[in-house]
Amino acid sequence: MSALLTVENLRVRYPTRTGVIEAVRGVSFTLGRERLGIVGESGSGKSQTGRAIMGLTQSHGIVSADRLDFAGMDLLAASPSQRRALRGKRIAMILQDPKYSLDPVMTIGRQICETLRTHEKVTKAEARERAFDMLEAVQIRDPKRVFDLHPHEVSGGMGQRVMIAMMVIAGPELLIADEPTSALDVTVQLEVLGIMDKLVAERGMGLIFVSHDLRLVSSFCDRVIVMYAGRIVEEIAASELANAKHPYTQGLLNCMPQIGESRHPLPVLDRKPEWLS
Ligand SMILES: Nc1ncnc2c1ncn2[C@@H]1O[C@H](COP(=O)(O)OP(=O)(O)OP(=O)(O)O)[C@@H](O)[C@H]1O
Ligand SMILES: [Mg+2]
Repeated sequence: MSALLTVENLRVRYPTRTGVIEAVRGVSFTLGRERLGIVGESGSGKSQTGRAIMGLTQSHGIVSADRLDFAGMDLLAASPSQRRALRGKRIAMILQDPKYSLDPVMTIGRQICETLRTHEKVTKAEARERAFDMLEAVQIRDPKRVFDLHPHEVSGGMGQRVMIAMMVIAGPELLIADEPTSALDVTVQLEVLGIMDKLVAERGMGLIFVSHDLRLVSSFCDRVIVMYAGRIVEEIAASELANAKHPYTQGLLNCMPQIGESRHPLPVLDRKPEWLS
């Protein structure tokens, strides 16, 4: 089976007055129609990797790679308008903070319909029906009412589910979900994971799931990439995560709280310079 996404030696740099910040430093992986988790401490380059694949690196960032292919298409050679056409339609990303992705002055329904109508030729009435169905699919209980609300009129968790509805309505082949459930309580979290799982199983979508939560990733994903300081230090089957060999991964695992366990002293995450080479 050919890969849906091939990333080879991806780098993202930000020149600043005091030097160059290397956010991503030579990341390589391939993705099929599967669930790939990306874990790693804050600032390790998870979001920057996702954004670079999406073509959403902040304007002063410099992206380079030996290869960045999506479904047989060379993303590095694609024009800005070709990349824009891919976004939302074939590749979608749920951003870490949905507040920045929803337009505060437009109703939720209109935003979802417009997303659909920029990618598919559907009538207004069809778009409306599809939006209702999608809102229902993300467990919004009263889709017709929520359709007419503005983003500030729904809860954070509902906002996040609305974002997911908007991102998947055009049926992307690849979904990059950056901490999509970290603001949700556990029951809603499970609903949202269930929706994404269904999309992978039923539509054969590829999923990149970025999370801090190693336990969640090990139960939800097929494979896991562990990032440290802009690099991949370990790639492992999700079911094997508990037996990870790399000391950094072991450190992340040790920092996960266990119910009923005494946390004195608190574990400290080891960081060694030799892991960078
Ligand atoms: N616009 C930017 N300009 C300069 N540096 C940036 C910019 N965006 C991100 N960085 C840097 O890139 C590095 C990686 O950031 P990134 O957002 O990918 O981390 P992350 O792994 O997603 O962390 P978190 O778990 O906190 O979301 C960080 O050191 C960050 O400071
Ligand atoms: Mg992030």
